Amino acid sequence: MSSPRIEVHDDGPALALAVAGLLVSRLAAAQAEGLEPHLALTGGSIADAIHHEVAGVSSDLDWSKVDFWWGDERFVPRDSPDRNAGAARAAFLDPVGADPERVHEIGSSDDFDSVADAAKAYGREIQDHGSETFEVVMLGVGPDGHVASLFPDQPTLDVEDEVAVPVTDSPKPPSERVSLTLPALNRTRATWLVVSGAEKADAVAKALAGGDLPAARVGGSEETVWFLDREAASAL
Ligand code: 6PG
Repeated sequence: MSSPRIEVHDDGPALALAVAGLLVSRLAAAQAEGLEPHLALTGGSIADAIHHEVAGVSSDLDWSKVDFWWGDERFVPRDSPDRNAGAARAAFLDPVGADPERVHEIGSSDDFDSVADAAKAYGREIQDHGSETFEVVMLGVGPDGHVASLFPDQPTLDVEDEVAVPVTDSPKPPSERVSLTLPALNRTRATWLVVSGAEKADAVAKALAGGDLPAARVGGSEETVWFLDREAASAL
């Protein structure tokens, strides 16, 4: 796992604009190398801001040849405003012309009887259609240092033999979620943690100091970048 690198931007909007441009450039470069990149998206406010900026980035990237996955998803009805996939579709997947066959949503409570069934199905989906590695895994970070839906001191952090796990007691509502496990999240060339706001500053500092937080346990084989705004970086 690569050592973390830090990039600080003035504020959330500047952070979102910078990450959006870098994301499009990295995916276009992967395509130029003949790859069909797989991207794992995340939920949350800074991710949503990035998604909206991505839609406005002009590039020769062929979005129809990118595979989209999620690091986690809330186990709610398909059309719930809480769905990470719905927010990403509205913000950029639909506007840029993503191929529906390559948008791999995690199952909703309309599709599965239980969050455990949804997690099993997603694990199979990734094993059947996921590449051997992601090009980029994007992750927000909670004030407690969680990433995806892997929260501190939870047994889900130690699951090694599954791709995706059910979460039934998320401290961040809604309580039921599906999350990729750490081994699945770390099967990536690049891990990009995107963090905005003073309320994250302590978690950022603790994770980067090697503290025992989920955010300290993710990383890519080629790069691990913490994209921060000044507030989130203020305790470094
Ligand atoms: C989710 C996210 C979660 C999020 C962080 C940061 O589904 O809730 O995947 O891990 O990325 O909680 O969210 P904010 O950027 O909104 O603080």
